[in-house]
Amino acid sequence: MHSLTNRRILLGVTGGIAAYKAAELIRRLKDQHADVRVVMTKAAQEFITPLTLQALSGNPVHHSLLDTEAEAAMGHIELAKWADLILIAPASADFIARCHSGMADDLLTTLCLASVAPIALAPAMNQAMWGDAKTQNNMQALEKSGMFVFGPGSGSQACGDIGLGRMLEATDIAARCAQLFHSEKLSGKHIVITAGPTREALDPVRYISNHSSGKMGFALASAAIDAGARVTLIAGPVNLVTPERVTRIDIISALDMHAASLKACEDADIFIASAAVADYRAADIAEQKIKKSGDEIQLTLVKNPDIVASIAALKNKPFCVGFAAETQNLEEYAKGKLQRKNLDMIIANDVANTAIGFNSDNNAVTVFTSQSQKEFPQCSKQLLAQQLLSHIHQAL
Ligand code: C5P
Repeated sequence: MHSLTNRRILLGVTGGIAAYKAAELIRRLKDQHADVRVVMTKAAQEFITPLTLQALSGNPVHHSLLDTEAEAAMGHIELAKWADLILIAPASADFIARCHSGMADDLLTTLCLASVAPIALAPAMNQAMWGDAKTQNNMQALEKSGMFVFGPGSGSQACGDIGLGRMLEATDIAARCAQLFHSEKLSGKHIVITAGPTREALDPVRYISNHSSGKMGFALASAAIDAGARVTLIAGPVNLVTPERVTRIDIISALDMHAASLKACEDADIFIASAAVADYRAADIAEQKIKKSGDEIQLTLVKNPDIVASIAALKNKPFCVGFAAETQNLEEYAKGKLQRKNLDMIIANDVANTAIGFNSDNNAVTVFTSQSQKEFPQCSKQLLAQQLLSHIHQAL
């Protein structure tokens, strides 16, 4: 379970001998699948090079507030908005004092003021500096303002002193960061979602498809990211923007969606099949455009694989959720599919009602498991997606 999956951590490194531990800290944060960007103060660069931290984080290191090139790539306000957490490690006595006084004379202090993300400090300094009343007053005020404080630890120091002031070990700091996000419902789970229609070619210019917009699947992907999951979205041809942090795989046909789903489900915890998969495809796709001839034309169609059923038949099957879009006998048909496809849950909606379902921005559904039934009244697909993910979380 990786609680930092997809979490964006802005690591601020300030000047002190413990700055070398920032390299290890980046590794430990990335082990937990966090996305890390580093901001260094001028003094920090005397202790460890930006190049080292750039190589480890996989992102350019930011260090200057007034660098036009860096601002053009990702401006400081954008960076402040990007972060889910600002972690300052090591946090020097000087940085703590400047942060407490509300200074904004370098990039890191400016980001601390400009961001609404939580801020965590991992102090590191000589034991006498840590014990000094001014540092203690600054720390208490920052903690009172809502900042998290990790450490410091006690022990022998680089200067030869023994006492409080050592930066906590990287694994400990990474674990404390994870703890901050732990309450997120689907933290660290890999969720695979199919969405939209599939398109079954008849010849180079024609195809069979349906009216699915993909909106429900995309809303589920976005809500799953907000709940802390890692999301793979396997999308048919749709006209929608990929939600941030989602890994999107575009496919055209049911066979492509089937192959992509099997691959993505090798390590999935949850599979949600919201795609409207074409039940049949042409037995043979004509190599050339089919020419107009008599009054009638015969097409031979063959059955497509049932994607959700084949995922549900896997030995290490994820929690499988299907959709049932029906125009009549909603409960009977949905329960039949739940059983026949060996699903853990089925989300049923009445597509005869044009105010909801296909292509609409709203939806209303009834969710069945083998033991339960729950109604979700009409609301936006975004809100419904959040409610459905909570329901899935409870059923896991
Ligand atoms: O059988 P029906 O198409 O109504 O079942 C709907 C559910 O099965 C949906 O979750 C849909 O995504 C999934 N399905 C699938 N592969 C198919 C047909 C449907 O995964 N070939």
